[in-house]
Amino acid sequence: MSSRIRARTAVELPARSLGVLYQSFRYLASSQTKNSPPLLRYNLSMSWEILKWIGIVLVLVFGGTALTGAPFVPSRRKELDIIFKKLYKLNKNDLLVDLGSGDGKVLKVASDFGARVLGIELNPFLVLFSKVRFISNPRVKVRMNDFFRSDLPTDTTVVYVFGDGRDMKRIAKKVEEQAQKLKRPLFLISHAFEVPGYKPEKTCRAYFLYKIEPKSK
Ligand SMILES: C[S@@+](CC[C@H](N)C(=O)[O-])C[C@H]1O[C@@H](n2cnc3c(N)ncnc32)[C@H](O)[C@@H]1O
Repeated sequence: MSSRIRARTAVELPARSLGVLYQSFRYLASSQTKNSPPLLRYNLSMSWEILKWIGIVLVLVFGGTALTGAPFVPSRRKELDIIFKKLYKLNKNDLLVDLGSGDGKVLKVASDFGARVLGIELNPFLVLFSKVRFISNPRVKVRMNDFFRSDLPTDTTVVYVFGDGRDMKRIAKKVEEQAQKLKRPLFLISHAFEVPGYKPEKTCRAYFLYKIEPKSK
């Protein structure tokens, strides 16, 4: 995804939608409150202000994280069910790490396959949402961090990423470094983007499976 399109999807579209929503609320408020008591008018105008600031914070956080990497777009459950059967047979002996775990869709499906899972996510709202979502699921952990600055747990077997085309080589290098530390290969599943310079072991739909060997010195 080019940086222009990324900036547009991540910032401009949500900002415009929120703008339209905000203007509609303002219009409704002003048409309904002309003859309302002053206290009600004050409460409504405060609500619009709060709504506006919540919108601004959401746009800044989602836009900001999207500018550092891929914007939040969830993978599809149906496709994940297929790839965890056909592309990489996920099972209870696996520890899957989702780099940029979004709302936790991948974590949910992978834990339904019996695997332990760790999500690493930069966006604090999505981290909070996932932490609450998996509060009673001991197989799922979520960590707020930049995945480029995070080490993988020592028992990681497979890494999942739905990233950005321009980051794929850097992500593969990161996994290679971790494989070197662990002194064994790691599997990498990439959704939507191939890794330039690496040959996939297998492909299925828009998913690519790589076996990343420890980096040779
Ligand atoms: C395309 S979404 C994928 C979400 C999830 N993995 C899925 O497939 O449903 C990419 C996610 O990566 C997060 N992200 C982007 N760059 C990141 C980084 N450097 N560290 C951690 N998370 C990042 C974004 O906030 C977004 O939630």
